[in-house]
Amino acid sequence: MTESLLIIEKTEQVGKIQLNRPQVLNALNTALVRELADVMEQMDQDDDIRCILLTGNDKAFAAGADIGEMAEATSVDFIVKPFFADWDRIRKISKPIIAAVDGFALGGGCELAMCCDIIVASETARFGQPEINLGVIPGAGGTQRLTRAVGKVRAMEMILTGKPIPAQVALELGLINRVVPSESLEEEAFQLAKEIAGKPPLAVRLAKQAVLKAMDLPLEHGLHFEQHSFYLLFSSDDQREGMRAFQEKRKPDFKGK
Ligand code: CAA
Repeated sequence: MTESLLIIEKTEQVGKIQLNRPQVLNALNTALVRELADVMEQMDQDDDIRCILLTGNDKAFAAGADIGEMAEATSVDFIVKPFFADWDRIRKISKPIIAAVDGFALGGGCELAMCCDIIVASETARFGQPEINLGVIPGAGGTQRLTRAVGKVRAMEMILTGKPIPAQVALELGLINRVVPSESLEEEAFQLAKEIAGKPPLAVRLAKQAVLKAMDLPLEHGLHFEQHSFYLLFSSDDQREGMRAFQEKRKPDFKGK
């Protein structure tokens, strides 16, 4: 029997996905990335899920794209079957995604973490883009997202040397949100996911979109998007509920409508 590539669980409006190829440090082969995009899209449509939590295991979040699968590929193979098409599906997920990273997050693993919206890492996590050592460069957003996250000179050093950085340095550079002890990683990341799952889902969705727009729009256009999203939320029941609950000094009950 073949083991599933992903372990999926739904708890308290959090959809948890664990990458499950431990024998190859969760190397991201096309089947795994396809399944990951499928599951994330299903969770995006599931009203009982308000936040997605993505994890690996204690040795690796993911050690990159599957080198065995890629080693003999040609440019034509990638044109015929676009290698990163499923990655594009992941970046279009509208619900927030939290990455809980332990161990290696290298190459595609680091890029997958950067596709997520918040990254919580264990003290032993390591982030890097070692593709240069294989004669290639990052292909799932590494040169772009890492540079936006840590700035040109730090991204340049990481990508040109291929040397990984420890979680504490990643925190100082603004690549990740928090560093926690390994044994409490899962719980801390879950609590954060649960906290976000308790927020009004429409506002969360538009807030995510607006922040992502800041990464690629000029300020004028980004501000325009933000203002329209703000106006749009005044058509939601949750805006009424949120503001009334404040005035009535009670806890709001958000329905996602
Ligand atoms: N692809 C395929 N298999 C991988 C892998 C990968 N990215 N990373 C690790 N594995 C496999 C190893 O081949 C090994 O398998 P065997 O036991 O069958 O030999 C198993 O996982 C365990 O790995 P190691 O024995 O190497 O473990 P280690 O603890 O000694 O070293 C490591 C860990 C430093 C992460 C090392 O495995 C490594 O350097 N891995 C490759 C990292 C890498 O270059 N990633 C970038 C890939 S390219 C990419 O991601 C492109 C992109 O932008 C999308």
